[in-house]
Amino acid sequence: MFSEIWNRQPREYEPHLWLFGNEQDGDYFDEEDFLIWQNDLFEHNFSTDRFLNNDASEKLIDEIVRNREPYVDLACGPGMGLIPSVKKKCSEIPCLATDANARLIKELKKWLREKKTETGIEFAQFSLFDIPVADCAVNAYGGFLSISSTRNGNSGYDCALSEIFRTLATKGRLYAIESEWLDVPAILKVFEMSGMHPWSCFSEEQKTWHDRFINHGFKILYEEPYLKHRLNEDDNELGRAAEKLGVQIEMQWNAFIAEKP
Ligand SMILES: C[S@@+](CC[C@H](N)C(=O)[O-])C[C@H]1O[C@@H](n2cnc3c(N)ncnc32)[C@H](O)[C@@H]1O
Repeated sequence: MFSEIWNRQPREYEPHLWLFGNEQDGDYFDEEDFLIWQNDLFEHNFSTDRFLNNDASEKLIDEIVRNREPYVDLACGPGMGLIPSVKKKCSEIPCLATDANARLIKELKKWLREKKTETGIEFAQFSLFDIPVADCAVNAYGGFLSISSTRNGNSGYDCALSEIFRTLATKGRLYAIESEWLDVPAILKVFEMSGMHPWSCFSEEQKTWHDRFINHGFKILYEEPYLKHRLNEDDNELGRAAEKLGVQIEMQWNAFIAEKP
């Protein structure tokens, strides 16, 4: 289904799976992570209604299904982004699960092929900073905290958005749930009080995803708050420090449908 979209040969190929390199751009996972996913998380993704019990995220899934275009999920991570919810609403929509981490993509394919007979899901490993897709070749991209998960701060977000815009067809859409920090002064205080060096993103101008999409030429068709997330010890060292100090650090997650005019 997705074999026609690429603009170059993959570094490695197996049926329904393409690997393009730039793995260093993604996250590192250890053996324990893979075991948890195989034994629990992958199954959990398909057994819950993660994005179907919230109006803002359900709107995104409904629109993907209504348009009936093959759907490409970006930086799908072990949660696989919006794919399990899209498949739950309409199993016929072809989906491509993509992430920079090659082993994650391979394990995902293995698990799905073993557990499900016909999934209609294909797999690709690539970085959002260098999307190996021809200009205007994709009609529907999306993801949950996909662009927000990239490194390199504003320049990384800009690079990913340029690549998404370049490879989207005219009238193609990006269905994205992205994250913004609330109360940056409180966050800087947590860094200071816990003796940690502030992450580089906090020394940069904080831009909204709305502005980023507009600056990159997108037209925003839909924008709604999805939920507020309180950073906790399971998230990262900042969440651990905030809990220890009794400070609330919140992130606003917003749902967008952005179109390439
Ligand atoms: C926290 S997950 C994102 C959430 C995920 N979409 C979900 O549904 O659970 C972060 C993922 O982003 C991937 N990632 C980070 N930077 C990336 C990049 N530049 N290109 C592609 N994937 C990237 C990581 O490898 C990791 O799997």
